[in-house]
Amino acid sequence: MPAITASAPGKIILLGEHAVVYGRPAIASPVNEVRASVSIMAEPLSPPGAVRIIAPEINLNSWLHDLQQSHPLHLTITSVLDFLAIKRIQSCTVRISSTIPVSAGMGSGAAVSVALIKALTAFLGRSISEKQTCDLSFEIEKIYHKTPSGIDNSVVTYGRTIYFEKGKEIDQIVVPQPFELLICDTGIPSSTASVVGDLRSAWLEQPEKIEILFDRVGELSRKACVAIETNKIEELGGLMNENHSILVQMGVSSSELDHLVEAARRAGAFGAKLSGAGRGGNMIALINKATSEVVSQALFQEGAKRVIKTCVQARKKETNEDDR
Ligand code: PMV
Repeated sequence: MPAITASAPGKIILLGEHAVVYGRPAIASPVNEVRASVSIMAEPLSPPGAVRIIAPEINLNSWLHDLQQSHPLHLTITSVLDFLAIKRIQSCTVRISSTIPVSAGMGSGAAVSVALIKALTAFLGRSISEKQTCDLSFEIEKIYHKTPSGIDNSVVTYGRTIYFEKGKEIDQIVVPQPFELLICDTGIPSSTASVVGDLRSAWLEQPEKIEILFDRVGELSRKACVAIETNKIEELGGLMNENHSILVQMGVSSSELDHLVEAARRAGAFGAKLSGAGRGGNMIALINKATSEVVSQALFQEGAKRVIKTCVQARKKETNEDDR
């Protein structure tokens, strides 16, 4: 029997990170240039139920039963089995690999969960809907990030640009024309849980002040949705710039991120901002064909460790989403 494989993309947040945890809208896009992949191969000669997990990027080569029950991979596999009411899995080797930078705000944890859920259900000869995949991966996100909004697992599951508000149905965004972004890695690891936790402390101390910032971000996301849907890319860039200023006021940026954001703007980007939790990880710059190369060079000159060019794909409105 050939190996069963599945993969899931990385992601960026175009606008709205942090405020999204507090119920404001945010916009996120998949990044197909980097992916998490899972392949599962049956091992008929191994004892029944023996599951080997190999994930070279995190130096993991272990039997499932030797992993702690709270380990995200253990939890993902057992929650799929519970969900499908399967008591014992056929012996197999699960190989996990990913080109998504870790702790960089690109949704690597969510992508691994989603790829594993998809591969495992296919291996078990079952199918689950995207909504169910999204819900299961949200449970795993809670282990990684404690109080996730759900935006990472949603954009990674659906693999398209989404307008996301916590606890609501995910809105599709019409993208009339594709547009391009550079994703630039500071090389500084960022812990989403700790940045989100610090902002929570600030919010508890000064709720009125921080709520005003969240409201302003929510308004920017709403305007950005209209800008995308009407193909006003320069306007979108301006909104991203405003969003970055507010993230600075929230205390989630860093001198390195600010420096790269400035460099991208000076080199001709329509707009630039940090993307994800902040304090490290990635920033994004909205560019076009004419500015792509010069902005990319400027970012490397100013300390970028890696620059990925990605395209937000055009998308028409879908009338029949049978998965809801
Ligand atoms: O996982 P990251 O670094 O992309 O951060 C996700 C975005 C936050 O809004 C900071 C957290 C969340 O759960 O939405």
